[in-house]
Amino acid sequence: MLESKAEAQTSAPSPATPAKPPVEGHSARRIHRVAEHVGARSYLEIGVFNGKTFNGVNLPNKVGVDPRFAFDIEPHKRDGVRFVSLTSDAFFSGMKSPEHFDIIFLDGLHTFQQTFRDFCNSLICSHDRTVWLIDDVFPSDVYSAWPVASEARQFRKLSGSDSPAWNGDVYKLLFAIHDFFPVLSFVSFSNRGNRQTLLWKTPRQTFTPILGSLERIERLGYFELMKSQQVFNFKPEDEAFAEFFSSMNGKFTVPDVPETTSP
Ligand SMILES: C[S@@+](CC[C@H](N)C(=O)[O-])C[C@H]1O[C@@H](n2cnc3c(N)ncnc32)[C@H](O)[C@@H]1O
Repeated sequence: MLESKAEAQTSAPSPATPAKPPVEGHSARRIHRVAEHVGARSYLEIGVFNGKTFNGVNLPNKVGVDPRFAFDIEPHKRDGVRFVSLTSDAFFSGMKSPEHFDIIFLDGLHTFQQTFRDFCNSLICSHDRTVWLIDDVFPSDVYSAWPVASEARQFRKLSGSDSPAWNGDVYKLLFAIHDFFPVLSFVSFSNRGNRQTLLWKTPRQTFTPILGSLERIERLGYFELMKSQQVFNFKPEDEAFAEFFSSMNGKFTVPDVPETTSP
């Protein structure tokens, strides 16, 4: 319920009242948990919108890319923080020499083609320990899975619902990664916020392509998706992090140096 103007004025904090810290959303919470584990210092966010996640991420070096920032970026600029008002394609293709980021959050245009391109381009900005978070990997309903946002909403409205939800066909990206990047491991969050996927560079132990062709992946519809949900490796958030931590711990354990034996 909206509060009245008078109530809003009386409840406004006085200058002496410390401002409440912004509420941490699910993306920032997950990014911080990754950052703490891998000791991250640098962060790239593709698709920033109103800055809820970007401005809430507490890392020294951050780059945000969005063709239309939906907030005033000026007060948020500081050393180590850069706002790039370009599409992701223009950002990646305009890089003179690649910057490397510890964490990359892909949350730009939610179509398979764009997110797949963002992911492939972002590989050049990665190092061995880079971790990706990918947003909106699972559509909330059949309308949400349609790749054109305006049409998805129009079709849903015809069915009697006014919900503006739209996730697009990012779900196909997980099949592309599953089938074409066996050198990457991933786990997806099934609770505590949007369905998102965490991705890191550790080869998967078992690998059998499911669809095996980009054309078949591109044509994968919502109901086929519902039959293949196991691809996402969905886990409740704590279990997903446990899987990620144990895989990363293995990856970064310093190998035992064999004792030298005297000749
Ligand atoms: C879902 S919002 C991002 C939300 C934000 N990451 C957060 O967590 O608060 C998607 C954003 O992607 C941006 N976008 C759309 N097309 C893009 C493109 N080609 N490259 C980069 N960003 C794009 C839109 O302008 C929009 O602000």
